[in-house]
Amino acid sequence: MSNITVAQCLQLSSELESISDSARLDVELILCNVLQKNRTWLFTWSDKNLTAEQQQLFNEFFSRRKSGEPIAHIIGQREFWSLPLSVNNSTLIPRPDTELLVELVLELFAADEPQKKRRCLDLGTGTGAIVLAIASEKPDWQLFGVDKSADAIALAEKNRAALQFNQVTMLQSDWFAALSLHADETAVQQFDVIVSNPPYIDPQDPHLDQGDVRFEPRSALIADNKGLADIELIIQQGWDYLCPQGWLLLEHGYDQSVAVRDLLRARGFVQIETRFDLGGNERVSFGKKDVVGRKGAAE
Ligand SMILES: C[S@@+](CC[C@H](N)C(=O)[O-])C[C@H]1O[C@@H](n2cnc3c(N)ncnc32)[C@H](O)[C@@H]1O
Repeated sequence: MSNITVAQCLQLSSELESISDSARLDVELILCNVLQKNRTWLFTWSDKNLTAEQQQLFNEFFSRRKSGEPIAHIIGQREFWSLPLSVNNSTLIPRPDTELLVELVLELFAADEPQKKRRCLDLGTGTGAIVLAIASEKPDWQLFGVDKSADAIALAEKNRAALQFNQVTMLQSDWFAALSLHADETAVQQFDVIVSNPPYIDPQDPHLDQGDVRFEPRSALIADNKGLADIELIIQQGWDYLCPQGWLLLEHGYDQSVAVRDLLRARGFVQIETRFDLGGNERVSFGKKDVVGRKGAAE
């Protein structure tokens, strides 16, 4: 009996519709990975048969998807800002909405001379998605990604190396701990921009039992104080790590923008704004450390 064709595999996507909003795309991505071909190839050669080995792998991946495992974990990859990133269960799968953080950083520094050197810190870098995306647009910047998880940092470093972004340093750190300020090293430890997509989900949130997040580590998702604990810490401590005129940008929950803006204002940030994500939810808030001179000059 001959093996299943590409077209027959694609037809199986109807079986995923109850668990996935992107059933057809999921099967296409599985096939691309199994056959090591791109999506155009699938449509051009839809009558091709899979080999026995390919069919076995396809069946394994398809049943894992059917049991709810995220497609990014199955194929080990997710695209972010058009960069192919390796993904695993040590951290969050990068979401399209997070590209808003990258867009805003580029917008805030749009007036810079092309070769202007800036220092950028990404807190809770995970796969490295945000810092690597910024690096792809700003080759002259010096960039740092930190994460508490050793496995996440190993993954971020793998992604950095694959993209050959030598201007990026990945560092294991509990937020700012490994960057601690020293009196004589102030300039080295400060950044023109700090970005973060920290854990911000309330531990009681029922969505934690649904969809992809069931397969992602709680350490990447939840924070105490109704999801605001890490955001608050980053705002409090982040001030000292920003250069005068530096910017702090934070992704947050759709219902946290008022709290985040209040925290930014209370810490002394100005020009505070919130922007909406692709789904029309308030998703990123940011503010400027508008002080004169070196660290803390106007504090
Ligand atoms: C929501 S995920 C964001 C991952 C990635 N930046 C992205 O946008 O896809 C939050 C990340 O923060 C990291 N994290 C949690 N607590 C941390 C801490 N105390 N210090 C540093 N990183 C932490 C987690 O390991 C996780 O990788």
